[in-house]
Amino acid sequence: MVPTSFSLDTASLKKGHRKFGSKIFTFETIDSTNNCAKALAACWAEEGTLVLAEQQTAGRGRLGRTWQANPNENLIFSIILRPELPAEAVNLLPLYAAVALAEAIEKETGLRIECKWPNDLLIGGKKTAGILLEGSLKENAVEYVVLGIGLNVNQTAFPPELGERATSLRLQAGREIDRNALLREILQALESRYLSIMKKGFHTILPLWLSRTTMISREISVSQEGAVISGIVKGLSPEGALILQSNGSERTFFAGDVTIVGM
Ligand code: BTN
Repeated sequence: MVPTSFSLDTASLKKGHRKFGSKIFTFETIDSTNNCAKALAACWAEEGTLVLAEQQTAGRGRLGRTWQANPNENLIFSIILRPELPAEAVNLLPLYAAVALAEAIEKETGLRIECKWPNDLLIGGKKTAGILLEGSLKENAVEYVVLGIGLNVNQTAFPPELGERATSLRLQAGREIDRNALLREILQALESRYLSIMKKGFHTILPLWLSRTTMISREISVSQEGAVISGIVKGLSPEGALILQSNGSERTFFAGDVTIVGM
């Protein structure tokens, strides 16, 4: 493990009257910010509570993968949400997070960000951020959700197993990115999009997400529980599931690992 120090400026995040980041827990090193945020949420920590770390010893990705990020170069954080949402709409949450994150990154860096279903952000086909949602349902509604975000900001070298599939904002922009300014922008975007879709309905995130993806009409394969299904992407269902035209019929996926053919 690399010795590290916490070098983000959290005081500036608390300025203003925003809900997201009004309570902040910071760690130089932690197992996983999602673990900590889940424990806090289970103890009734309020919506918008932010857990921020420079380094994780057991950072998790989707589908049992690990999330690796060099300390002091990236953004690694989790936020507690308590949306009034029925359980069947929970798949819209990663789409909301992806859109808000993309908007903030674009504002701060000028880079064009693409969304890849279900939880990834890409630049030029390479992954720059991943989102991990974990939570608890109660009586068929969302009790709390922990929105975990790993964003490659200033890291310039990636482990060989990631090959050419990973990138960072610095690599793409050709300049160092101010992590504090970016984090401020992200919290602002997450909060304002959240308030807007809570008011207008969570389904209003669908056109925003669709306008940011290059997946529609492309050939992809989805691996799910050991099976691989190929087909052409038709779109998203109202609940945020992926609709695939495969062997003459439509199939709907609520989870899975997607590979875009030719990428
Ligand atoms: C993925 O792409 O598979 C999702 C990656 C999510 C990583 C973030 S880093 C902060 C939070 N804590 C974790 O352990 N995971 C998420």
